[in-house]
Amino acid sequence: MCGIVGYIGTKKAYPILIKGLKRLEYRGYDSAGVATLEGSDLTVLKQKGKVIGLEEKVNGWGELEGTIGIGHTRWATHGPPNDINSHPHESEDGNMAIIHNGIIENYGALREELTKRGHTFKSDTDTEVLIHLVSNVQKNENVSLFEAVRIALEQVIGAYAIVVLDRDSPQQLIAAKKGSPLVIGLGEDREYFIASDATPIVEYTKNVIYLDDEEIAILDREEGFTLKNIKNQEKTPYVQELELQLEVLEKGGYEHFMLKEIYEQPRSVRDSMRGRLRIDSGQVELGGIGDYISKFVNADRILIVACGTSWHAGMVGEYLFEDLARIPVEVEYASEFRYRNPVIYENDVVIAISQSGETADTLAAIELAKSKGATIIGICNVIGSSIPRMTHAGSYTHAGPEIGVASTKAFTSQVAVLSLMALHVAKQKGSIPESRFQRLLIELNSIPDKIEKILNSNELVKEISEKYKDVPNALYLGRGYNFPVALEGALKLKEISYIHAEGYPAAEMKHGPIALIDEAMPVFVIAPRGGSYEKIVSNIQEVKARKGKIIAIVTEGEEQVKKMADHTIEIPEVDECLMPLLTVIPLQLLSYHIAVMRGCNVDQPRNLAKSVTVE
Ligand code: G6P
Repeated sequence: MCGIVGYIGTKKAYPILIKGLKRLEYRGYDSAGVATLEGSDLTVLKQKGKVIGLEEKVNGWGELEGTIGIGHTRWATHGPPNDINSHPHESEDGNMAIIHNGIIENYGALREELTKRGHTFKSDTDTEVLIHLVSNVQKNENVSLFEAVRIALEQVIGAYAIVVLDRDSPQQLIAAKKGSPLVIGLGEDREYFIASDATPIVEYTKNVIYLDDEEIAILDREEGFTLKNIKNQEKTPYVQELELQLEVLEKGGYEHFMLKEIYEQPRSVRDSMRGRLRIDSGQVELGGIGDYISKFVNADRILIVACGTSWHAGMVGEYLFEDLARIPVEVEYASEFRYRNPVIYENDVVIAISQSGETADTLAAIELAKSKGATIIGICNVIGSSIPRMTHAGSYTHAGPEIGVASTKAFTSQVAVLSLMALHVAKQKGSIPESRFQRLLIELNSIPDKIEKILNSNELVKEISEKYKDVPNALYLGRGYNFPVALEGALKLKEISYIHAEGYPAAEMKHGPIALIDEAMPVFVIAPRGGSYEKIVSNIQEVKARKGKIIAIVTEGEEQVKKMADHTIEIPEVDECLMPLLTVIPLQLLSYHIAVMRGCNVDQPRNLAKSVTVE
C-alpha cells in the first residue's frame, strides 16, 4: 500500500517522480503528491485522487526545476483520502518533507507527547507525526538529518518505508525501512533513485540495493551512498543487478493491464515451468528447494499461509499435496494464523505464497512459524522482495510483473509451481505410481496450449457477460479441485465489478445459498468431467429446479450439462488435478468483461491495492 519515489542527482526530479508514481499507482490511488527542492525553496504539491490529477495540478502550477525530490501515491490508512491527508507531509516549520508507506502504530502517543510540547497538526495522519518528531529531535539535540531520523525511528513502533527531504540539507535524502519495501537505484555520478519497487527505477539503472529492515540510507550528492542501521552501525550494501525489462511494464496494445495479463498466461505458465518440468528426462527439477526436499519428505504436515488470490492458490495446493504426496495440509489465512497462537511443529513445512512478496500478514505469519523452528518455503513472483529473503528456500513463479490489481496470471503461475512441487515431493516420497507421474508431466506440459485455446472463447464469454452485467448478485459453485476456483471466480467478479458474489462448494449450496436462488440469480458452475462430475450435475439440477440461470464451464464435447445450462463455455480435457489451471481462465475473462461493461476501472478498483503492506 502506498507507493513512494525519490530522486537526487543532476536531472530535474519532477519528470522522474511523476513517471515513477504512475508505475506505482497499483499500490494505492487515493491521493498523490510531490515535493521538490530548488535552492532552499521547498515546493509541496499534493491532492486527493489519482496521479493524473496531480500531474494536471503541477502543469497548472508551473515548472518544478529542483534536482532533488520525493513523491507519493496513497492508499489511505489514517484519515480519509483528502488533500490535507495526502503526502508529502511537512514539519511544523515547513523545512522538512516526508513520504511514508506503512503504519506508525504508536502515533497516538507520539502525537500527544508532541502536542504537549506545543506542536499542532494539520492532518489526521501518522506520517505527519513522524516528520514532526524528526524535526523536534533535530532542533532539541542539534544533530544531523540522518541522526534526527535515526533517533526518531528508535521511538517508533510499526512499519515504515520513508524518505525525508530537508531544506537545510539540500545535498541529501534520507531513506529508511522496516516492514515496508524500499529499493535504491544507483545511477551515474552520485545520482540515486528510490522507490517502493524497482519499476520506477529500471529505465535509469539496473544496479539496485534492496534495503533490509531497520536500515537507513544516506544518499548524498557530495559524499555518495552510506548505509547504516538504526543502531548507527555502518553496513555493507549488497548491490544487485535487475533482471526486469522495461517493455513488460507497458500495456502492449491491450486496453487494460488485466486483459494483457490474462492473455499472457500461456507464456507465464510456461515460464513458471521452464527448466523445471523436464519432459526429456521425465523429471521435475526445483533448484530453489534443493536439499529442502527431504524436509517435505519427512514432514508430518504442510501449512500453507497466504492472503487473497494467493490463498486460493494455496487451497489448490492443499488438494495437490494431499492427493499426490499424501501429506496432510492446512491452508491458513496469514492474518488469522499470525494472531491465533497456532500449533507449529519443528518438522512442519510452511509454504508461504505471495505474488508481491510483501504482504504484511504473510510476512508476520512466516516470522512466527520461523521462530517455532518450522521450515519455510516461499512461492513468490517479485524477485528480491521481502518474503523470498525471509524464507529458507523457495521457487519464484516467474510470471513477470503483474500490474492489474486483480490477480490473474500470478494465480495460474502459483498453481503451476505448486503442481510441480507436489509432483516432485510425491516422486521423492514414492507416493505416486511412476506411470501417473509421467502422465501428469505430459499433461502439465500441455497446459499453456490449452490455455491458449480457452482464450479463443473470448467472444463467447463477452456475449455471456453482456447478459449478466447488471445482476446484483452471483453464485459460483465448484467441487474438489474446482472449489478454490469457485472462490477465485467470485473474488474476481466482486473486486472489479462490485457485484456481490459468493463461491461455494457445490454440495454445500443446499445448506444455505440455495435460499437465494430464483430466476434472477446467475449461478456459475464449474462442471468439467472428472471425479465429481455426476454429483455436480445433480447440483445443477437443484439450481434449475429453482429457476436459477446456469452458466457452466464444461469439458469439450460434453452433452449432459449443455442440455441443462443456459450457457456453456468449453475447456479442453485435462487430468482433474490440473483443472484449476484451465477452469479459472473463462472466469477471469468474464469478470473482466462485466467490469468493463459496467464502466468500472478494471486495473484500479476502488479501495483496493495490489500490495498490502499493512495488516
Ligand atoms: C491484495 C491483492 C490481491 C492479492 C492479495 C495477496 O489483496 O489485491 O490480488 O491476492 O493482496 O497479495 P500477495 O502479493 O501476497 O499475493
